[in-house]
Amino acid sequence: MNAYEQSKTRLEESKKVLAGGVASSLRASMQPTPLFAAEASGARLRDVDGHTYIDYLLAYGPLILGHAHPELTDRLQEAMRRGYTYGLQHDGEIALAERLTEVLPAAEKVALSGSGTEAVMLALRLARAYTGRTKIVRFHGHYHGWSDSIYTSFPSSDMRQKEVAADAGKVPPGTGGQSENSLEDILLLPWNDPEAAERTLRERASEIAAVITEPVMCNSGCLQPLPGYLEKLRELTSELGIVLIFDEVITGFRLSLGGAHGRFGIQPDLVTIGKAMGCGIGVSAVAGRAEIMDLIADERVSHLGTLNGNCIATTAALATIDILSRDNASVYGRMEANAVRLAEGIRSLLQSHGLRGVVNQIGPVFHMMFIDRDAVATFAEFSERDGSAYSRFAALMLDEGVLVRPNGLWYLSTEHGDQEVNETLQAVDRALARMWTGTPA
Ligand SMILES: Cc1ncc(COP(=O)(O)O)c(C=O)c1O
Repeated sequence: MNAYEQSKTRLEESKKVLAGGVASSLRASMQPTPLFAAEASGARLRDVDGHTYIDYLLAYGPLILGHAHPELTDRLQEAMRRGYTYGLQHDGEIALAERLTEVLPAAEKVALSGSGTEAVMLALRLARAYTGRTKIVRFHGHYHGWSDSIYTSFPSSDMRQKEVAADAGKVPPGTGGQSENSLEDILLLPWNDPEAAERTLRERASEIAAVITEPVMCNSGCLQPLPGYLEKLRELTSELGIVLIFDEVITGFRLSLGGAHGRFGIQPDLVTIGKAMGCGIGVSAVAGRAEIMDLIADERVSHLGTLNGNCIATTAALATIDILSRDNASVYGRMEANAVRLAEGIRSLLQSHGLRGVVNQIGPVFHMMFIDRDAVATFAEFSERDGSAYSRFAALMLDEGVLVRPNGLWYLSTEHGDQEVNETLQAVDRALARMWTGTPA
């Protein structure tokens, strides 16, 4: 078993000066210890103890081109020589906005920001200003960033109880320090349940500014929308004058160049994108109907941010989109084929080891879980998974040279090829064999 001594020592050092020892709370959950990275390239990462891993964490999603992509790196270095940020307008902003309106079907106009959380904040503000209403419908198991007005506790099994709270008009805060009233405008509903959505939207239409949804529930099980579900949300929101927001912070540039809405052929009013858009450089955007986005133009909605549209962000996004869109965006087919082979391989390994589990895959992202079911389609079903078994598996995978996120979500990049898939399946085989044999994780 790997010792991870250097990572453990550094965590103790870090805790003395960095609150919690990690820079984002989620990272603390990695077992047997939060890893410290030394360097990374392509699909592989080396930690400070000298172990190398095939990386499926991919920095929690952004690294669609893998680590330190040479062309992206060159373009960033070249841009840096001309200045990082001006606090003035520059041609890169126009170029990126034009490119986004070309590749995202829902984008008539865009606004640039720095993180997914900020993009969601802006989208909600636009929706409220546009409709003159205040309530926001969101769903169990979805995550829309950590701002006070939308953050419920991160997907956890107690979310079903919160449905009761939502019906009673008050959703409890997700963290200490968040006002008890932060979420009073939130209506929390079960996802993939068209009747629940229709009931609430019709009953409370005059109060509801927006419905926000991940088009694929990547944050809880990579659950796909039931056939017709997103279409139903589109139909209802159009009829009732409610803004439909697709939170594509994960799915944007991941499920296709046009995100999930491009892949599914559905037009939301607004989309939020981040993560893969900048391949690891902080950049995000809200894109959507000009009529709504123009609330910024006529100054009815403030959109602020010192580093919005900085040259590094626009260069990263433009280069990433250029690389992804080459050759008719054929890279998406290759990434998907590798993801399918991996997901199918894991399913058959689970079976050959006599283990019950589900792998939900779409495009180059999938969720693997241990659960006594043949399929998982709802958040309630997802909540039955054995999370601690998976976290043990993830620790064994580390030991076998594969870095996976402790919650079960795997991302692939353009740099994951046949060799990585083959090595990974061999590692899964060995890790599953060790799962219940008493070999320490
Ligand atoms: C769907 C979704 N929306 C918003 C966010 C927040 O993005 P960020 O972490 O860049 O603030 C995330 C982050 O994981 C996300 O998955």
